This record gives sequence, C-alpha cells and structure tokens, in this order.
Amino acid sequence: MYVTRCVVLKICSLAFDGFRNLCTGSMEPCDGMNVIYGKNAQGKTNLLEAMWLFTGGRSFRGAKDAELVGFEQEKASLSLRFYSEGREQEAELAVVNGKRSAVLNGVPKKSPAQLVGTFRAVLFSPEHLSLIKGGPALRRAFIDAAMCQIKPAYASLLSHYNHTLNQRNALLKDIPRHAELLDTLEIWDDRLARYGEAVTKERASYIEKIEPSAAEIYAGISENQERFGIQYRKSAENLSEALRAARREEIQYGHTTVGPHRDDLDVTLNGVSARSFGSQGQQRSLVLALKLAEAGTLEKLGGEPPVVLLDDVMSELDAGRQNYLLNRLDGRQVFITCCEPETIARLEAGARFEVRKGEIYVSTPGTGHSGPG
Ligand SMILES: Nc1ncnc2c1ncn2[C@@H]1O[C@H](COP(=O)(O)OP(=O)(O)OP(=O)(O)O)[C@@H](O)[C@H]1O
Ligand SMILES: [Mg+2]
Repeated sequence: MYVTRCVVLKICSLAFDGFRNLCTGSMEPCDGMNVIYGKNAQGKTNLLEAMWLFTGGRSFRGAKDAELVGFEQEKASLSLRFYSEGREQEAELAVVNGKRSAVLNGVPKKSPAQLVGTFRAVLFSPEHLSLIKGGPALRRAFIDAAMCQIKPAYASLLSHYNHTLNQRNALLKDIPRHAELLDTLEIWDDRLARYGEAVTKERASYIEKIEPSAAEIYAGISENQERFGIQYRKSAENLSEALRAARREEIQYGHTTVGPHRDDLDVTLNGVSARSFGSQGQQRSLVLALKLAEAGTLEKLGGEPPVVLLDDVMSELDAGRQNYLLNRLDGRQVFITCCEPETIARLEAGARFEVRKGEIYVSTPGTGHSGPG
C-alpha cells in the first residue's frame, strides 16, 4: 500500500557563524540521505548538534550553552530554513553571554524551548547505546521523552505522578517519628495508584504501538536473521494492592518500592535478553530500530516524518546493516556521519559532504529522493 505524502519535514539550509569549530558558512542538504564524512575531530557531530538544537532541546552532548560558542568568538548564531506544514519556515538561534535565544519566522520566542514541536528530529548518538546496556532509568526516560512529544497530556500526567511520589516518600520518611501521620498514607496511596496505573498503561500501550515497526526495521537491518522483541515490564500488576503489601517495608526504607518509577523494558533478540547477550552490532542495531520506530510513530499519529540524525552509527555494523541504513530509509530526510570512506561508496543516492577543520565541502551534487512537493 502506498501512502501519498504531500508534506515532508526537511531542512532546506543551515547557516552557522561562530558555532563550535564550524567556519562561517552554510550547507544545503538534499531531501533524502545526506552522508557527512571526515576524519575525527573535524566538526561532524558539531554539525548534527547545530541541527538538533532547533528541536528546542538542549545539546545532546549535555553541553552548557556557553560551550557552543567557538573559542575566541563573541557569539554563535545558527539559522535554519526548513520546510514543514506545507511552507518554508525560518528559525534562528543565538548564544550570547552564555544564553541561548530563538526567533521563529521573524518572531522572537520567550525561550528556545518554545521551538519544541516546530522542527522535529530523532537523534541517534553512541551514548544512546546505554538504552540497552545501561540501567532502567534510561529506558524509562526513552519512553517518556518520546511520549511527551506525541502527547502533551502525558507530560502533565507524569509530573503529577512524580510530585505524588515525592510527597509520599517524604511522608514515609516522617512516619517512624510521627506515628499519627500513618492515617494520611492511605490518601497518598490512592493518588499514587491512580496516577501510577495511568502512567504504566500509557507507556505499555506506547511500547505495543512501536513494537511492530521496530521489529520490521530490525528485520530489515539484520536481513531477517534475528527476531526482535520488546515488552514493558511493570513493577506491579495491581499497584494499590502492591502498595498495601509493601507498606511495612516501605516505611522501614522510607521510599516507594513499586510503581512506574520502578518499571523497565525487556528487549530481546531471538527470545533472549539483548542486554546480557547482544553483541555490539546487535545492540547498536536495536537502539537504531527503536529510534527509527519512534520517528515512524510520530508520523503515524498525524505528524510529519521527523528529520533523522544518526551520529557515528556505522562503526561496528557490517556491510549489510550499513547498506540498509544508507539506502533503505526512504520517505524522510536523513543525516549520517561517518569516518570511513568505504562507507560512502555504498551510498546509492543522496548527497555527500566532507567536513575538514570545520569547513563543509559538497563532494557530489545532491541527487535522488527529491520527491514531489
Ligand atoms: N566551542 C568550541 N570552539 C571551538 N572548537 C570546538 C568547540 N567545541 C568543540 N570544538 C572542537 O570541535 C572539534 C570537532 O568536534 P566534533 O565532535 O564535531 O568532531 P567529529 O568530526 O564528530 O569527530 P569524531 O569523528 O571523532 O566524532 C573538536 O576537536 C573540538 O575541540
Ligand atoms: Mg563525532
């Protein structure tokens, strides 16, 4: 079945001045695949970081705003022309005196965070591998971040839950010294169970939604050699009952031991834990499949396909997997950074840019993928 799309979110051009090590200049990517290559420390990640900042988020490297300004520069300015919702738009970001500011279509915004939802992107960076390897908090954060983009009401539900959790934890700590407070615990239990059940339900349904597309993407990456599975794991089947059962223990520990803040995700390959048994290439492919499925979900829920930014994704992937990423991600604009020239040779259609000491050179004219407007 073909879906005709008349709107595709894409970057038309990005200009930079005083940003990190990038020399003053601009780049005009093609509508499809854009490979950004070059040796280490030339500015490839800096370039993706510049694009990412227009999502309204902070630097994905956890950089302070002041660090975005090039050494010996007074300020950094970025300007993005992008096509979204059927028209060309322009956003500008500046960092002056360690503070970021944003302008959208000529109108200054109160804060750069107000750009959220205007220009959307999904990012893979090697740090995201901790999504498989790291602790459960990162997996919960992955779901929460994706859901907050899709459903703003979820953000407020989550903040109600967290607030209730903090209040209840404070109460649990006080109870040993003030036995009379025990009576009020019931109220907090009810509230926590209500918000908690709702958070768990929303998250589990999001995972159910992304599973088929993540599985399909994973099958593509692995050339159908491996079976992908993902499941939301609740810390309690029935939260109010679990709270009641854990009460004595929780008063002793002074914190809440069950609820969505203790839930996790099980990611499996051929039925076994990817965290314990997955190879490096498999773990990388899994994170990618999850990220790309996140992009697909945004799109299915009525949004435009977000721009896909893949930083340093190619290393540890074999030729088949690299091929899939370079040549099978149709219908959206993608940016991939890599170091190895052999990788670029696999690119069937798209544009190539080389980054050398902060300068960006177009290696071949942008071709392919430029679909109907
Ligand atoms: N504020 C800044 N001003 C000037 N240079 C900076 C600034 N921040 C970072 N750099 C420099 O930018 C250079 C390139 O960084 P970047 O992370 O983009 O490299 P890369 O091309 O992605 O390399 P790799 O292949 O190793 O990932 C680094 O050498 C760093 O010193
Ligand atoms: Mg890099």
